[in-house]
Amino acid sequence: MVLKQRLESLAMAGVQQLPKPRIASTPPAAVASSQPVATFQPLVVLDPAALADRERRLDEVRQEVAGCTRCSELAAARTHTVPGKGHAAARICFLGEAPGADEDASGEPFVGRAGQLLTKIIEACRLSREQVFILNVLKCRPPGNRVPSPEEVSHCRGYFERQLGIIDPAFVVCLGTTAAQSLLKTTEAIGRLRGRWHRHGNADVICTYHPSYLLRNPAAKRDVWDDMKRLMERAGVAL
Ligand code: URA
Repeated sequence: MVLKQRLESLAMAGVQQLPKPRIASTPPAAVASSQPVATFQPLVVLDPAALADRERRLDEVRQEVAGCTRCSELAAARTHTVPGKGHAAARICFLGEAPGADEDASGEPFVGRAGQLLTKIIEACRLSREQVFILNVLKCRPPGNRVPSPEEVSHCRGYFERQLGIIDPAFVVCLGTTAAQSLLKTTEAIGRLRGRWHRHGNADVICTYHPSYLLRNPAAKRDVWDDMKRLMERAGVAL
């Protein structure tokens, strides 16, 4: 299982051939007797009441989103609102742009082709979707998957900011331009926002390419893999 995940991580990074194994310079006995390696805890340990309180507050946001009509065009066209999904105690949140057709049909974030690629990215980080929280800037699908307007983002800002405030993650991964520019309130291009750390609330923020962009430009997977390695390194995990 671990080996399979490792190979998937390498494939995700575009690696097609493995180098010959190097002879270890440290004898196995010395490795075995070294200090235990700290492992990343994807969930904050909360007492049951605190966890239930977060879940209740997230559910309040979900209910408000379900009845929201601030963007009349989007509200009229939607099948479902897509508030987001994941663990209320997650230390990592993934922020996308807006639901597409599959998400509008199901009410769940990132379930289409881009979502399947996001699942692979999460699993390559040795995490599962259940151990993170996945949300979008917009909670309704823009017709034809067009880019959200600044007005639509401003209508949804209260929702995604509140969600992040409740979860209070250690890390936010912004997937693509809309997520990065909306969260960080900037007009800088995603290519310039990548490769360095940003801050939002108590969270370290990293920006990377959107999985939909990777479907059109598979060569950019290597950059996303570099970003994920940087993220997990700060979390204490060498990928
Ligand atoms: N793209 C997004 O940004 N979010 C989704 O939920 C699906 C596709």
